[in-house]
Amino acid sequence: MNGPTPDGDLPRLPPAYRLVALDSVGSTNDEARRLAAEGAEDGTLVWAREQSGGRGRRGRGWASPRGNLYLSLVLRPQCSLAEAAQLGFVAALGVGDAIGSVAPPLIEVTYKWPNDVLVNGRKAAGILLESQGTAGADCDWLVLGLGVNVASYPEDAEFPATSLRFEGCPAEVTEAALLGAFGKHFLTWVNRWLEEGFAPIRRGWLNHAQGLGEEIRVRLAREELSGTFKDLDESGALVLGRDGGGERRVTAGEVYIP
Ligand code: BTN
Repeated sequence: MNGPTPDGDLPRLPPAYRLVALDSVGSTNDEARRLAAEGAEDGTLVWAREQSGGRGRRGRGWASPRGNLYLSLVLRPQCSLAEAAQLGFVAALGVGDAIGSVAPPLIEVTYKWPNDVLVNGRKAAGILLESQGTAGADCDWLVLGLGVNVASYPEDAEFPATSLRFEGCPAEVTEAALLGAFGKHFLTWVNRWLEEGFAPIRRGWLNHAQGLGEEIRVRLAREELSGTFKDLDESGALVLGRDGGGERRVTAGEVYIP
């Protein structure tokens, strides 16, 4: 890890966060996990200008050059690990609203199950949740990692990607500006989740869900399913209508929308 980021372009964050601003790091998730294991407070936010070993879901890498947003938030929700996973949807809505607040008009923000944020149909942000806790007991900590393609995007990603700049966001929309906007909007959604549970999150997410009602494929650990994307259930599972009739609830997998 290199020293702290220059003060030039620091985000304006609500006081609920404690910012750890780094210039370069292997992975902000690794750094946040280390801090969480040492007892870091809820709201500790690790932000880096670049990562040398950024990690994505399902063992993939996450290209992390300068100019994009890389952050990991330490959260200590007082709920089970299964419920804590709903924070991925909460964060997706926070990212979507943050993008909406800085983007030009007519940009389309949608959510792809479980936690991707698409702009004009292509992936602009990804979320990596990592948690610690004992099954049956409350979550000890959860690290919510977020990467947003602000200035650039990988050409060779598994899913078509884009960046906010490519989609027409001006140069004033820096990663620090987007971090400030995310901090604010995430807090709004997390407070709703704490007060009202998953129902408003589910509604907000479904209102802009990519592929809802369409034929999709879902790759699970050992099989691939196809069917109609019917719903997001009350816990966050994807409800897939099967061709032969019946439904299947999917809690972990990769969605492909033709
Ligand atoms: C995905 O595969 O869609 C999730 C990508 C998550 C990337 C972010 S960048 C900040 C944080 N640190 C990491 O190493 N990964 C997450």
